[in-house]
Amino acid sequence: MIRAGARSARSTTRADGRSFLKWAGGKTRYAAALVAAAPPFTGSYREPFLGSGAVFFELAPQRAVLSDANPELIVCFREVARDPEAVMRLLDEQPNTPEHFAAVRRRSPTDCSDLERAVRVIYLNKTAFRGLWRVNRRGEFNAPYGAYDRPYYNRRVLLDAAHALAGVDLRVADFAEQLDEAAADDWVYLDPPYVPLGGWADFRRYTSAQFGPADHVRLRDAMVRASRRGVRLTLTNSDTPFVRELFGADFLITRMATRRDINLQSAKRGSWDLLVTNYQLPSGGSAR
Ligand SMILES: C[S@@+](CC[C@H](N)C(=O)[O-])C[C@H]1O[C@@H](n2cnc3c(N)ncnc32)[C@H](O)[C@@H]1O
Repeated sequence: MIRAGARSARSTTRADGRSFLKWAGGKTRYAAALVAAAPPFTGSYREPFLGSGAVFFELAPQRAVLSDANPELIVCFREVARDPEAVMRLLDEQPNTPEHFAAVRRRSPTDCSDLERAVRVIYLNKTAFRGLWRVNRRGEFNAPYGAYDRPYYNRRVLLDAAHALAGVDLRVADFAEQLDEAAADDWVYLDPPYVPLGGWADFRRYTSAQFGPADHVRLRDAMVRASRRGVRLTLTNSDTPFVRELFGADFLITRMATRRDINLQSAKRGSWDLLVTNYQLPSGGSAR
């Protein structure tokens, strides 16, 4: 088990801690609590399940490697970093109508420039029902139109995001690749698709494309390998017997409130996540 001790590699960039995307399972609501639970580290910050990158933006580290298995998401982050003004200009040209939504949804990313792919991701994220990024077995986006009356972006947030992303290594990769190259004194924050609260009983809805029990086992094994090399690790997942059993032998497990208004009722609705670490949580951290 690694103990806190080294100095943190946090910087003082001006990103205000908000992402330009809203992602299913996104950590915006408690990114600050997760950053407070970070170990001291002197190497790179790594986030192999990037999603909207809520914890990255909250931390704003000097050195970071960010990756996700979704290539559209990574192209989007790269384009925001490269030319946020061009992204905003092209977003301004997109009407928020069911017809245009259907046309953007139909468009194949392979027929688009990288800038168009990035704008497609932000547009669909802000106009699709609940911002869901959902694809069918052929990889085609299939979430329905949300009919929301809201802007596609906040200028300050997008410019701050570009600033925070300058010089950051952004990759399309499976999580294991990132974990296997992490070095001692790097901090890796892992936020995989969660184990369902009802366990794995609902097997009929499980498809090979989803993140299933075998992937969680593969993740635990990659974390054990990285931990042996001195990498600091933090994983979030649902408070389920599966997660407790899988990680309990090799890691420390702490319960963490996911809402401020925690009470008996909301606890019943699953307002706790598990925080899995290979270091003692810094005292004063907000995990319980
Ligand atoms: C729960 S979301 C992460 C949310 C993120 N922490 C946030 O704040 O928005 C999980 C992410 O894992 C990605 N993912 C799924 N399987 C993966 C894999 N095998 N390797 C890397 N990323 C994967 C998904 O594309 C998704 O973006």
